[in-house]
Amino acid sequence: MLIDLTGRRALVTGGSGAIGRAICLHLAASGVKQVAFTFFSNHAGADETARLLTEAGAEPHIIRANLAHEEAAGEVVAATRAALGGVDIFVSNAASGVLKPAVELREKHWRWTMTANAQSMLFLAKGFLEGEAPMMGSGGRIIALSSMGAVRAVPQYTMVGASKAALESVARGLSAELGSRGITVNVVSPGVVDTWSLQQFPNREQLLEIATLRTPMGRITNPEDVAHLVTFLCSPQAQMITGQTLVVDGGYGVLA
Ligand SMILES: NC(=O)c1ccc[n+]([C@@H]2O[C@H](COP(=O)([O-])OP(=O)(O)OC[C@H]3O[C@@H](n4cnc5c(N)ncnc54)[C@H](OP(=O)(O)O)[C@@H]3O)[C@@H](O)[C@H]2O)c1
Repeated sequence: MLIDLTGRRALVTGGSGAIGRAICLHLAASGVKQVAFTFFSNHAGADETARLLTEAGAEPHIIRANLAHEEAAGEVVAATRAALGGVDIFVSNAASGVLKPAVELREKHWRWTMTANAQSMLFLAKGFLEGEAPMMGSGGRIIALSSMGAVRAVPQYTMVGASKAALESVARGLSAELGSRGITVNVVSPGVVDTWSLQQFPNREQLLEIATLRTPMGRITNPEDVAHLVTFLCSPQAQMITGQTLVVDGGYGVLA
């Protein structure tokens, strides 16, 4: 096993979705036995992830949370402590948000999206790191999922893009603070992946066609591509990579 994560304990948010599930399964395949993951509304998706984790020899722990609620982060920290004791790998993957032109956005859209995507990551990390006996110690890994919308104007995506930009900034700040504790913090930014969230875009077919045509590698990104990178960042081999946003998009983003 090139990447050996035996003995590590992981919490992945949004494990009922396609990318979150792939991350859970890749971590398990690399030796992580204790895999806790959150879901919100997709009970069947959560059960399927748990089934696949069990099949892979891991011990799944399902945590239900609406991360758009401010108090959810504290509840997930408590549930993770109860399930795993501590946590070595924290992947902030869950995302929610409102797809609308910027001029149609309302305060409640801002609050929901910022809380679910950026605030939850900060306060989950804080919960794992604070106190005299923090749940995460040296060798810890924090990875957040962002998107190109953090740095580019994508139609209908301003609200989610703003939350991802905040998330990336929080990750950079945490990386600077946590290096001295032996913990790395990075961001993974995938290209277009054909998951449930993409189906919420009214122009999904067009997005997929353009993404395929424009991607130098000739296909869109899939959940496994993302999970491979996340798993590598969790490995001891990646201990000097921190504070970075790594793009996995087959070259889509490099074209003018
Ligand atoms: N798909 C893409 O093209 C793409 C591109 C770049 C970045 N990303 C990022 O990759 C990550 C995973 O995306 P995905 O495509 O796999 O999305 P997905 O299939 O829609 O999964 C989203 C996950 O987030 C959870 N979630 C949604 N709202 C939540 C809430 N209020 N509280 C707690 N959990 C909530 C969902 O739980 P339930 O389903 O159980 O409600 C689900 O597990 C996201 O951060 C996304 O921004 C995706």
